[in-house]
Amino acid sequence: MSTAVLLAAVLGGGVILLARRYFSRSSAQIIRYSAGMMRGKTVIVTGANSGIGKATVAELLKLQARVIMGCRDQQRAEEAARELRQEAGSDQGEVVIKLLDLASLKSVNSFCEEVIKEEPRLDVLINNAGVYQCPYTKTEDGFEMQLGVNHLGHFLLTHLLLDLLKKSAPSRIVVVSSKLYKYGEINFDDLNSELSYNKSFAYSRSKLANLLFTHELSKRLEETGVTVNALTPGIVRTNLGRHINIPLLAKPLFNLASWVFFKTPLEGAESSIYLACSPDAEGVSGKCFANCKEEELLPKAVDDSVARKLWDISEVMVGLTK
Ligand SMILES: NC(=O)c1ccc[n+]([C@@H]2O[C@H](COP(=O)([O-])OP(=O)(O)OC[C@H]3O[C@@H](n4cnc5c(N)ncnc54)[C@H](OP(=O)(O)O)[C@@H]3O)[C@@H](O)[C@H]2O)c1
Ligand SMILES: *[C@@H]1O[C@H](CO)[C@@H](O)[C@H](O)[C@H]1NC(C)=O
Repeated sequence: MSTAVLLAAVLGGGVILLARRYFSRSSAQIIRYSAGMMRGKTVIVTGANSGIGKATVAELLKLQARVIMGCRDQQRAEEAARELRQEAGSDQGEVVIKLLDLASLKSVNSFCEEVIKEEPRLDVLINNAGVYQCPYTKTEDGFEMQLGVNHLGHFLLTHLLLDLLKKSAPSRIVVVSSKLYKYGEINFDDLNSELSYNKSFAYSRSKLANLLFTHELSKRLEETGVTVNALTPGIVRTNLGRHINIPLLAKPLFNLASWVFFKTPLEGAESSIYLACSPDAEGVSGKCFANCKEEELLPKAVDDSVARKLWDISEVMVGLTK
């Protein structure tokens, strides 16, 4: 008897999970864009070999964009590019791989030099690469890794590509942030976490920095034809959690739960694709989006004076001013 109850519970639970997976998801449908709408446009995606970045490239390729994958590992990038080309079908755009390690200012500089030399135009820059809750490490230039990659590397990258973006206007910058920004602060007294390191705080701080950067940059880009918007993708099943240790026994349960409740990479890429491609996003700037809709931010993410101060300090840190 109790076995039957247990069996019924398990089966019933399974059906509910499957239903959730297949029905509730399809209602949050992916927007369909018209084929070829990105033909003739060049898009850079950082961290394009995995997760949300890879799903973003997949869609851009189908829309026939020329996509530059900014990746730190040639082999991982080639593998991803091969898969992406295979899956994009006929009438696809182009993928180009260029090495980019955001934990190295030297690498960011040479990536941009190459882009400026070889690309006549740049229509969209998607700052997507990110690292999450890694153990305390420093970038090549001595920055705390999460602030260094998620914010400072992209800060320099964007700065160096701005002239090309302006020349190609109307053009767009898309910044992938996270709702976890809510738990961050810009603690100017210890930006490199030398006094103390809390890996979740450092991630939140870097994602808050992404939003403050978007806020300040949008003001500086008024009247240039270049827009900049941020987005928060939600909880997405990707490789982002690589530094999180889940006990071996809990792994199957975690995998099941993530399969049921987390977004797929394509669902997670929805707002990135929307901000990069949609005619509805044209002319919109300085906003943050979630599920392709404008999202209200906490005051600390749109604080003019913190945004300004972070901008000035970031310029000094990446060597743009002395
Ligand atoms: N997944 C989520 O639930 C979630 C939620 C909120 C926000 N986000 C944000 O979404 C973005 C994409 O993350 P994801 O979830 O797709 O994770 P992912 O699968 O781990 O992809 C991250 C990408 O960033 C690249 N990357 C890491 N460090 C880099 C560096 N130093 N230089 C160049 N590239 C580097 C990775 O390259 P390798 O493959 O070589 O490591 C990878 O391609 C991140 O900005 C993340 O903060 C994700
Ligand atoms: C680390 O930071 C997180 C998020 O800011 C916070 O909730 C947590 O209490 C902090 N942990 C410690 C040990 O200070």
